[in-house]
Amino acid sequence: MGEAEAAIDDGGLILVSHRGPVQFSRADDGARSAERGGGGLVTALSSLAGQLGEARWVCAALTDEDAAVVAEHDGASFDLDEHLDEHLGPEGGDTDDGLRLRMVTVDDDAHEAFYSIIANPLLWFVQHELWDRPDAPDLTRREHDAFEHGYAVVNRRFAEVVAEEVEEVAAAGGRATVMVHDYHFYLLAALVRERCPDVFLHHFVHIPWPQPDAWRVLPPPMREAVFTGLLGNDVVAFHTERFARNFLLGCQELLGLDVDLDERTVAVDGRTVAARAYPVSIDPEELGERATSAEVGEHERALWGLRRDYLILRVDRTDPSKNIVRGFRAFDLLLRDHPELAERVTFLALLQPSRQDVEEYADYTQAIRRVVADVNLEHGTADWQPIDLRLEENLDQAVAAYLVFDVLVVNAIVDGMNLVAKEAVVLNRREGVLALSETTGAYEELGDFAVTLYPFDVAQQAEALYQALTMGADERRERSQGAARWVRDHDVSAWLHAQLADIAALRGA
Ligand code: G6P
Repeated sequence: MGEAEAAIDDGGLILVSHRGPVQFSRADDGARSAERGGGGLVTALSSLAGQLGEARWVCAALTDEDAAVVAEHDGASFDLDEHLDEHLGPEGGDTDDGLRLRMVTVDDDAHEAFYSIIANPLLWFVQHELWDRPDAPDLTRREHDAFEHGYAVVNRRFAEVVAEEVEEVAAAGGRATVMVHDYHFYLLAALVRERCPDVFLHHFVHIPWPQPDAWRVLPPPMREAVFTGLLGNDVVAFHTERFARNFLLGCQELLGLDVDLDERTVAVDGRTVAARAYPVSIDPEELGERATSAEVGEHERALWGLRRDYLILRVDRTDPSKNIVRGFRAFDLLLRDHPELAERVTFLALLQPSRQDVEEYADYTQAIRRVVADVNLEHGTADWQPIDLRLEENLDQAVAAYLVFDVLVVNAIVDGMNLVAKEAVVLNRREGVLALSETTGAYEELGDFAVTLYPFDVAQQAEALYQALTMGADERRERSQGAARWVRDHDVSAWLHAQLADIAALRGA
């Protein structure tokens, strides 16, 4: 354990996120199974929890089986490894040593309003600036009710649970450090602080933080609740300096608070809140091990069968922020401009269906299917399908595809970080080219090694794809090695340690 970890270890660490490290389900034969929660956040946090001594993790019970697990433990926290061993045998128990899980059940209606009306789409769409504003959003009674009876209710429920955990730590003589994650819990810190004034609270926002005016989409009571909730923290953290600065500017312009842009702090209620940037990353070793598994090997062989002269790849959730439709339109344009590429290039799209109970996401998935059908109809031949669309969740297949791509496309409209770019450059064995949107957090680190994409410029994306496909061997090697080296030198441990070092310093101050 390093110095920074030791400094917070006396108090115990409490992680809070909506999606937890595992999700339980029950098969038809009655057997319980556990799957890892989806998304980049859970990947990073699992790795973080694994590196710290006795962390507690507070998350939502999202399935009926999660609720059954909660009931078995009378709503209290439990040792995750022990539980998995007991129910799934040793196979299931290789997760995070010593991690105590506290799953929180919430009323179904409140959760639906919290998740499907406020967090996604409202907050996600504000922060990724995704609307056609003449048409959307409409903030009707439904959204106001969902904020009050969904988002606020779930935040209050989680705040109570977190406060109980903090008080347990205090009763044992420690001072807890709470690390809250993402846009589901903007109101939480202020509520916890009311009950536990001495706690150290840190909130990591994994998605972009836009400029102050973007928040004017929300009426003052909502946007002020978001900002004041977050200002209950000691540290509000983001992936980039730009997002941290936008947050401070929002405090200044929307709340009229005193901010210090050089020190990156804001003064509120006699306290100082710091805004910081820590770019999240991956665990290259763990990923490298996975890449050597038999399952990945099998997928890899199948993908070699698919690859002709070139394989273009994208791996994303089916999220409007990922800009998947424009990416396919750029590919369409590439094939029109370069008929010599016909039958020689395949665009493999590994897309995990996401948030399909939110209307905007279901519509977007349909739009993806339509554009793929159009492009394949226009350019496909009897034995060549230009776009190979696979709508499924299959991590082993994605890892295999990372090994063999020639060009990886990440053309997101905007993205907090984008861990796909980092995973892919570390694993790829073909000196593949990263084509990366300038508006992703990852671009601040990997932009120099990438072919830049401008997310709204379909014509430019087509040209950039051509440049990437035809780049000379030396340049490809230099760029791909440089990118892989950067990610290895700035891995998820570095992300964690930078935060813990700051927490240790601020707690001591
Ligand atoms: C992004 C968000 C996470 C979220 C994940 C998956 O990575 O930052 O907070 O968990 O997407 O989304 P979901 O709605 O399925 O949890």
